[in-house]
Amino acid sequence: MSEKELFQEAVKAKEYAYAPYSKFKVGAALLTKDGKVYTGCNVECASFGGTNCAERTAIFKAISEGNKDFEAIAIASDNGMFTFPCGICRQVIFEFGKDIKIIVGDKNEEIKVISIKELLPYGFSSEDLNQ
Ligand code: THU
Repeated sequence: MSEKELFQEAVKAKEYAYAPYSKFKVGAALLTKDGKVYTGCNVECASFGGTNCAERTAIFKAISEGNKDFEAIAIASDNGMFTFPCGICRQVIFEFGKDIKIIVGDKNEEIKVISIKELLPYGFSSEDLNQ
């Protein structure tokens, strides 16, 4: 699956977003190393801390179904600009592989690709716990 195709899956997943408070809909599409795609959307909560981002929804779906080897994750929002993962999601993505590709797109469908280790330099990982 190409980067653009994965991004298109994120665009579709965005339509399921439950974002009545921020009105900021986000979709994510997570590609596993064996070629499966797990999608996710943001799910908000009136008690705002209960909100889950699209990226983590997709990751938790995959993990809960026995898949934790990830190649790439694409993210789409409605604001027409590149939407990069928030800090918490960066940490969760990093947990499952420092080379996971982050794919973002803008309103012109221009695609940018960057690795999670570039987005989260000096990220904390299990290696730090085992010193
Ligand atoms: N959000 C995501 O789902 N992913 C991101 O990368 C950025 C933020 C959601 C969380 C919340 O529902 C809304 O966007 C506004 O922060």
